[in-house]
Amino acid sequence: MAPVAHAHDISAHGESLHAPHGGESKALIRFDDFCFAYDEHIALSHIDLEIAAGDCAVLMGDNGCGKSTLLRAINGLIFAQQGHYYFDENEVSEQSMKDASFAKKLHARIGFIFQDSDAQLFCANVEDEIAFGPRAMGLSEEDVAQRVGDVCELLGIGHLRTRAPYHLSGGEQKKVALACILSMNPDVYCFDEPLNGLDAGTRRWLVDFFGELKSAGKTLVIATHDQSLADEVADYFVYMGPEHEYTDKPHLHINY
Ligand SMILES: Nc1ncnc2c1ncn2[C@@H]1O[C@H](COP(=O)(O)OP(=O)(O)OP(=O)(O)O)[C@@H](O)[C@H]1O
Ligand SMILES: [Mg+2]
Repeated sequence: MAPVAHAHDISAHGESLHAPHGGESKALIRFDDFCFAYDEHIALSHIDLEIAAGDCAVLMGDNGCGKSTLLRAINGLIFAQQGHYYFDENEVSEQSMKDASFAKKLHARIGFIFQDSDAQLFCANVEDEIAFGPRAMGLSEEDVAQRVGDVCELLGIGHLRTRAPYHLSGGEQKKVALACILSMNPDVYCFDEPLNGLDAGTRRWLVDFFGELKSAGKTLVIATHDQSLADEVADYFVYMGPEHEYTDKPHLHINY
């Protein structure tokens, strides 16, 4: 099997230079010439990217370059208008996502914390919000209650259980959004600007938590402008340029 060519191994000319794992790992996430525009407005241009299971890839680039759009694509919320996206070797497309069981499996394996966490919270109280995913996965009410209890304890948000999500502070909402994802125990965690609006203690806690997710073998894809977060957690960077493509900026290998 060909070694995985990460985004940082792809030059401006699309040549694969080397694989940082030196390995035979297969891509869990694979974009092949992926293009997407909002109406006429190009957001992703000819993206070729492979992310292997267990990687922590950090997406970087200026405002509007397409980081959030790429995370939406990974989560099957938008689809290729040209090219392809494969998750675990299955193509994720408008067509494949019409299959309810395929879509359900994809959403169970990939968790996404939005740039604005409040936009993804919709239940009347925090407890129901966290229980929503496990219930949708068909778990028994006993198991659902167990998972809700476990993640509330892990994140220290037990005191918020009966509160309305839309009345919480930004940082509290971010923790609830994280709890919702954790309760699903996905393979892949996508975070969009995860440290925005968090106090210093909560930022430190979350960065350490990323380390725990990595140790547990989870795959992380994080969009951020925060260089210190990137330096601390990234296995590699995925740089996006002003034309919504990869740049040929030299890539840093920091945690290999
Ligand atoms: N819903 C939308 N409708 C139209 N255009 C959009 C929409 N969402 C994003 N765009 C445009 O697509 C491009 C990519 O946006 P995106 O949000 O992916 O950028 P980003 O890299 O996440 O930026 P930021 O660092 O500011 O979060 C931008 O030019 C943006 O204006
Ligand atoms: Mg964004």
